[in-house]
Amino acid sequence: MILANDFQRQWSDTGGDVLAAVERVGRSGWLVLGEEVKQFELDLSTFWGMKHATGVANGMDAIEIGLRMLGVGPGDRVLTTPLSAFATTLAIVKLRAVPVFIDTDEHGLIDLVRCYDLLRERRDIHYMVPVHLYGHALDRGGLEWLRDEFGVKMVEDCAQSAGARWQGTPTGSVGQIAATSFYPTKNLGAMGDGGAILTNDPALQEQARVMRSYGETTRYRHEQLGYNSRLDEVQAAILRAACLPRMTQWVARRRAIADTYNSGIHNRDVGLPGVPEGTASSWHLFPLHVAPARRADLMEHLKSRGIATGCHYPTAIPDQPAMSKVAFEMADPCALARQICASEISLPIHPYLTDDEVATVIDAVNAFARQTVIAQTAA
Ligand SMILES: Cc1ncc(COP(=O)(O)O)c(C=O)c1O
Repeated sequence: MILANDFQRQWSDTGGDVLAAVERVGRSGWLVLGEEVKQFELDLSTFWGMKHATGVANGMDAIEIGLRMLGVGPGDRVLTTPLSAFATTLAIVKLRAVPVFIDTDEHGLIDLVRCYDLLRERRDIHYMVPVHLYGHALDRGGLEWLRDEFGVKMVEDCAQSAGARWQGTPTGSVGQIAATSFYPTKNLGAMGDGGAILTNDPALQEQARVMRSYGETTRYRHEQLGYNSRLDEVQAAILRAACLPRMTQWVARRRAIADTYNSGIHNRDVGLPGVPEGTASSWHLFPLHVAPARRADLMEHLKSRGIATGCHYPTAIPDQPAMSKVAFEMADPCALARQICASEISLPIHPYLTDDEVATVIDAVNAFARQTVIAQTAA
């Protein structure tokens, strides 16, 4: 089976480094918030080109804590996308703030022109969580435009965009805070949960450290009602020793696979993922589009050829049952995002795919096209 993620293959490559990292932690005798977390935070901030990184328990906490540090609280409106992991919105809702959903563009990214028009009309929206979905960096100029014109404060959701660039610049530095995830499937994935808050503002970094550990400012003194959201020492050691040093090569491999898919897939029934101009995607996912009525057929066809696929995401966030329990607003009908939810299929795109497997995927997608054409001709 050609898997969406192949952690056994990854282990064959990284296992030695992982075991050595775990042993180092064990021998150190320090298991929580020690030297490994500290060093990983330094390495991560260098990799990301941000001044500070603070390890937390997961990506959703990074968003929630980030928003709270920016002052988001009950009733505050937070502009965001209906097309993302549910965690993006859940982080907003957990603060009892009100997500305001606005449509995406054709690439599946929050539509920054629509955001501009909305913010011009609505002076009650002061916060935003844009998502660099699929590893496609959002237009940096567009984000800066919103920030500068309306003073909107942002937590950029960079859970999927480790390694992505917009005109050479990493994602996450337009807003005050960037949040990322080390969930195992992510481009920079740990062997369990993890996340980080990145910022260029030393005061926010200091606050993030306090917030992740019960709001404790000095030993047993709690000035804030914080969280228990620490990055494990073991995960930090693994990320630092086994994953970060491979990131450049992993992202390059994802890009090479995406290029091969983009040049090899020729199918009038299947839409290839466009990327905004200026974006060097880190290709966390490779989203194809097919007519909604044919999606299940294409997924079944690929499965029959031993190829796993996914859907990112099958349901727009405001349509999730859990959202009936909370307040949210629709800035527009989000028709494009809903269309993407109905038509998207993710092809395998991980750094351990072989060239032969990539060719098998391309042949299979193209064969689906031929079957379609033959069926139409016969009819
Ligand atoms: C875009 C996006 N935001 C947030 C998250 C949440 O990250 P985590 O699962 O580490 O909480 C994810 C991961 O699922 C994600 O893909």
